[in-house]
Amino acid sequence: MALIGAGRIGANHAELIARHTPGAALVAVADPTPSAERLATQLGVDVVELSAERVVARSDVDAVVITTPARSHADLVVEAAAAGKHVFVEKPMAVTLTDADRVIAAARNAQIVLQVGFNRRFAPGWKAARAAIDAGRVGTPQLLRSVTRDPGPFGADPARIPPGTIFLETLIHDFDALCFLNPGAVPTRVTAIADALIRPDAKAAGHLDTAVVTIEFDNGAIAVAEASFSALYGYDVRAEVFGSRGMVTAGDGRCSDMTYYGPDGISVDTARRDTDLLHSAYLGEFAAFVDSIRTETPAVVTGADARTALSIALAAIDSAASGCAVQITDVAVMA
Ligand SMILES: NC(=O)c1ccc[n+]([C@@H]2O[C@H](COP(=O)([O-])OP(=O)(O)OC[C@H]3O[C@@H](n4cnc5c(N)ncnc54)[C@H](O)[C@@H]3O)[C@@H](O)[C@H]2O)c1
Repeated sequence: MALIGAGRIGANHAELIARHTPGAALVAVADPTPSAERLATQLGVDVVELSAERVVARSDVDAVVITTPARSHADLVVEAAAAGKHVFVEKPMAVTLTDADRVIAAARNAQIVLQVGFNRRFAPGWKAARAAIDAGRVGTPQLLRSVTRDPGPFGADPARIPPGTIFLETLIHDFDALCFLNPGAVPTRVTAIADALIRPDAKAAGHLDTAVVTIEFDNGAIAVAEASFSALYGYDVRAEVFGSRGMVTAGDGRCSDMTYYGPDGISVDTARRDTDLLHSAYLGEFAAFVDSIRTETPAVVTGADARTALSIALAAIDSAASGCAVQITDVAVMA
């Protein structure tokens, strides 16, 4: 495999592929910045390319893992598919529905495995929740909830965060998780409220760091997704499905099951990074990717799944701006 994009999550994925994914070998890293060289040296990878084009052209590469910024994903997937490479692409797969369709068509025409990085589907709690739903233990889902709170304090420069990031890159995990936990149901209508509660000074320039989104589904279920860019107590991702026969919850920010008892009371340590809290989920998604390639079976998280999550994100952006509920079918027309 080759990695395209040696940034924060690329470094995590490269290490998992190089050292912890049976059946996979990392043979090349591409990034126009010195981070490629650094990462390659650290992992003992010989080939460093400055451009994605060169890595995609290599005959010793069967599959690429794309971890570049969101707006480059669609073109890179199409290019890799045209060269016959299997693709794992980080979310969002694309930022417009037109591009999502282009990616899906390219993967279908090239008959490659295309997997999208919705890692929560591989986290033990979310997998077990889905298994309970599939087994009928929850009954018909009626109320769903999904939460993403990134670890604080928020230190990024708001001016460097592209518009719509809270919907397209953060809440898109929640949108996918809610569809995963409401199997077979189709999202129909979206309402969103968003604000800059963490950096109100940046709101006038379009910065949004806090959001709540409601999603109605065609099976009657109503879901709420919420996100914040700054949870001072750590990385906090959770899900809940309440149905006609019971309820399941998933997610627990604790580092381990250790509880500390001391002079000031009882406390637990919390995970501060997604790569720590969801380590096994990241491992699971690469094991699944390799398995799909080996067995020539479709990816566990498909381009169609990513398109559905994207359509909710685009509807949420529209709703937050207009203050009105947005039909998913209207988003498809706008794209
Ligand atoms: N699944 C998850 O939980 C998760 C977590 C974090 C990030 N992500 C996603 O991963 C993507 C990357 O995020 P990040 O935080 O690692 O970003 P980052 O900015 O840290 O890294 C991106 C890297 O891509 C490189 N790059 C840009 N264009 C390139 C090109 N054409 N060819 C090769 N390299 C190129 C940049 O030089 C940079 O090193 C985003 O889409 C983000 O939403 C997913």
